[in-house]
Amino acid sequence: MSTPDTEFQGQHVLVTGAAGGIGAALARRLLQQGARVTALDADDAGLAALQTETDASRLLTRVVDVSDAAAVDAAVAEAEATLGPIDRLACVAGVLQMGRVIDLDDAQWSRTLAINAGGVFHTCRAVARRMVERRRGAIVNVSSNAATTPRAGMAAYAASKAAVTQLSRCLALELAEYGIRCNVVSPGSTDTEMQRAMWRQGSSREAVISGHAPSHRLGIPLGKIATPDDIVDSILFLLSDRAGHITLHDLRVDGGATLDQ
Ligand SMILES: NC(=O)c1ccc[n+]([C@@H]2O[C@H](COP(=O)([O-])OP(=O)(O)OC[C@H]3O[C@@H](n4cnc5c(N)ncnc54)[C@H](O)[C@@H]3O)[C@@H](O)[C@H]2O)c1
Repeated sequence: MSTPDTEFQGQHVLVTGAAGGIGAALARRLLQQGARVTALDADDAGLAALQTETDASRLLTRVVDVSDAAAVDAAVAEAEATLGPIDRLACVAGVLQMGRVIDLDDAQWSRTLAINAGGVFHTCRAVARRMVERRRGAIVNVSSNAATTPRAGMAAYAASKAAVTQLSRCLALELAEYGIRCNVVSPGSTDTEMQRAMWRQGSSREAVISGHAPSHRLGIPLGKIATPDDIVDSILFLLSDRAGHITLHDLRVDGGATLDQ
């Protein structure tokens, strides 16, 4: 998809998970388009790499664990004090926790919910409070096709993403009267460190594409893994004014892997 080069010129966009994978690709695209970007992530090395590539006056990076509500509140306040009102928000940070329910321990379950669902809640709450006062803004939260399609060995992750999707749809309903839109992008398998970690633990690119009948998993009809930019294109569209009449939407970007169900 080609987007106007200046679509986000002058806009302040806050991106969580901006140090790696989809979030970093999104932050780079926004900066290329002239946006001011606040980049939050738990990984300081990834944020430092982003900082070295960019005009420092348009980028604020902060090491923040999104599961820490007070840290998120402080970072959002600092972002607005430094780069001005936040116009758009993209919550991309997330962790993958594998494991069958009978093998998961309490800490794995709690951490997954705290980062994936809690992180979106903390960030949306802090930013939406400010957007409501200004009666403008747009939000995109990154969920997963596992939010709606059961996956063996992914219960904690899938449950956390189901929470992200439904939190986002309820938030969208609450924000509509203020003219603020909130949508979801649900990727399937995407070539980032998160996906490659699975490939190092027994899965593979080929197995994901062709499917795996013993675990009741279809392949990918389009026959390829998504690139981070495939996902970024959809996030940018839903953040942009071109999606001005779209809210509460869950846009699946998975090459048909879950038959859009
Ligand atoms: N890669 C895939 O196949 C895939 C599929 C579906 C959904 N997703 C979702 O896309 C989003 C981006 O994933 P990705 O593939 O780019 O993964 P990634 O691991 O490459 O990037 C995730 C980023 O989130 C950051 N992060 C993790 N925990 C954090 C925390 N507590 N606080 C702040 N930042 C934290 C990481 O440091 C990292 O920079 C995630 O929400 C993920 O669940 C990815």
